[in-house]
Amino acid sequence: MYKEFIDPILMKMNSEVWHTRAREALHLAETTPLTLKLLEQFGDAHHRLHDARLNVEVGGVRFDNPVIVGAGWDKAGRAVKGLYTLGFSGVEVGTVVEHPQEGNPAPRQFMLAPGVTLNRLGFNSPGMEAVARNLQRYRGSGIPVGISLGKNREVAAQDAPQAHAVVAEKLYDAAAYFAINVSSPNTPGLRALQDKGPLTDIVQAVNAAMEKRGGKKPLFVKIAPELSEEAVNDVIEVVLEHGLTGIIAANTTINQEIKAKYGERWRNEAGGVSGDDAEYRRMATEKVAYVYRQTQGKLAIMGVGGVKDAKTALEKIRAGAAIVQVVTGIRGEGTALPGRINREIVSYMEKEGIKYIDELIGVDCDKKLSHL
Ligand SMILES: Cc1cc2nc3c(=O)[nH]c(=O)nc-3n(C[C@H](O)[C@H](O)[C@H](O)COP(=O)(O)O)c2cc1C
Repeated sequence: MYKEFIDPILMKMNSEVWHTRAREALHLAETTPLTLKLLEQFGDAHHRLHDARLNVEVGGVRFDNPVIVGAGWDKAGRAVKGLYTLGFSGVEVGTVVEHPQEGNPAPRQFMLAPGVTLNRLGFNSPGMEAVARNLQRYRGSGIPVGISLGKNREVAAQDAPQAHAVVAEKLYDAAAYFAINVSSPNTPGLRALQDKGPLTDIVQAVNAAMEKRGGKKPLFVKIAPELSEEAVNDVIEVVLEHGLTGIIAANTTINQEIKAKYGERWRNEAGGVSGDDAEYRRMATEKVAYVYRQTQGKLAIMGVGGVKDAKTALEKIRAGAAIVQVVTGIRGEGTALPGRINREIVSYMEKEGIKYIDELIGVDCDKKLSHL
């Protein structure tokens, strides 16, 4: 029903406007038990949550199931409980920056095709103080909230470590884990911070900020799908050397050939493509498999990029991801998505005689991906 009736209408709407309305509707639905119950029905999630076969632990954080919301869907932390009620086992909030920031001029989020998005939002964020206030309401809820850390646009590269650290310090209590996002294509110069030197400085500053708050939360680095193997090796080295938890692969792609598949006019449009593009999905999954192989499964990996059903979720898990994240698929597939993915994963496990989901992590890390 969603794909036949609702998605065609949404395709005609401004993508960002729809997105904001959907988030605010979820925000409102969080406020009463009745609307939360309705959300549970919408999400078709009641089957999934109490199934121990789907439980995963990442960096000491327990997730009910392996499907969480990736960064960008709830940048301000306003719909965490709503998303959880739909069947996601956690939400990565953000990217959060220190000071409120508008982001790039609109329009800046486009549907290229059903299930495929191009965005150049550029870290629109109400800033860390507002996000901290928003997240207060989820305290004690037990919902794992990841915080994606970023820097304001005008912050110079040499000040990036401090810019990430202040956000980590401010949101320490709200975070189940942190992710350093140096892979967005929409803040000029940001991706250069994935290089070994600048990344080390950021990691050290964030680690120090966490220690200042009395402890350490799991910390991830999120990488771009275009990184060369050499560059990924550098990130892995930093992650291992500084005792981080793992890697999130991958952010949106700036690949012009992928953009141009949806019409020549998109080729030179600034922004990153995400969602249901087989080539993009493969790039992201290959990064997951590469990190898993290189580290022999020692690092926790979150797989993101083109997950839209159980098949694409399992592909990421089998490549090496302990958790998959979804952003564009929520728009493409509707609110029943997490419930459906989890139900179908359980059916698959029953058919294959698999007792716990983590038995599947990395089993296909050596497999060549050919389904373009
Ligand atoms: C509208 C939109 C906003 C995004 N904002 C962020 C962000 O703020 N930080 C981040 O790390 N990734 C951001 N992303 C990237 C997603 O987290 C994810 O890496 C990418 O979209 C691939 O997943 P998907 O195919 O499920 O969308 C954004 C993606 C979209 C579509």
